[in-house]
Amino acid sequence: MHYQLGNIKVCTEPDYAAMSRRAADIFADAMAQNPDAAFGFATGSTPLGLYKELIERNKRGEVDFSGITTFNLDEYYPIKGDNDQSYRYFMERNLFDHVNVRKESVNLLDGETADAMLECKAYEDRIRLTGGIYLQLLGIGANGHIGFNEPNDHFPGTTHLVELTESTVDANSRFFESREQVPKHALTMGIRTIMSAEKILLVVSGANKSRVLADMLLGHITPLVPASILQLHHNVVVVADDEAAQDIHGMLGRR
Ligand code: F6R
Repeated sequence: MHYQLGNIKVCTEPDYAAMSRRAADIFADAMAQNPDAAFGFATGSTPLGLYKELIERNKRGEVDFSGITTFNLDEYYPIKGDNDQSYRYFMERNLFDHVNVRKESVNLLDGETADAMLECKAYEDRIRLTGGIYLQLLGIGANGHIGFNEPNDHFPGTTHLVELTESTVDANSRFFESREQVPKHALTMGIRTIMSAEKILLVVSGANKSRVLADMLLGHITPLVPASILQLHHNVVVVADDEAAQDIHGMLGRR
């Protein structure tokens, strides 16, 4: 199914596997069109199927990572890169170690930096120097967050240090041995960084995202639902499975 909601194109697929394949088609097309561009990546469970697809297509020679530069959305702070909960570790394990990306073209925020402010500024400079991000992949939190930009009274600008909310620390503690080990801060691209990407691909899966997907697409643009700002971007594709799309199907009627 397809919906065009303002600037946002929404594709819905029956299940997670089909959603992942559709997202991989879009990602692979963008890489073929712009093989030397910068691409933005996300962690979390939603893109895992897409990453598996890209790995398989890379193995079959259908997708080439050799010319691209990568930038990840966010990273815990502080955290060591070899910690198995770091986003660096996640990306290496779930994508970068299995495709022909050049290691020197992989950019992640440094969770070990002594100077977080400087790291954020240097990251923005690096993005700018590569000519900006051509396609940014996003997931969405059930509260509407993108990156680590949580509901707030304003839209944060560029890459910055955030203090994680108690609820995010709680939610993330399932991945750590104890709550004390969960980093209390993170470095994240800001909303302006994300909005500067030429194209945005948002992947959404599961019934627990259905409400927020409808809110971000059909509700007011508000920092209380950070992803709602995407309504103002000129080139966004949302790929959702039917569970995540159940509220928009209900509100708009299946098409
Ligand atoms: C990941 C990120 C987060 C996730 C979001 C959804 O780098 O920045 O905003 O995209 O929390 O996570 P999942 O996909 O696990 O539901």
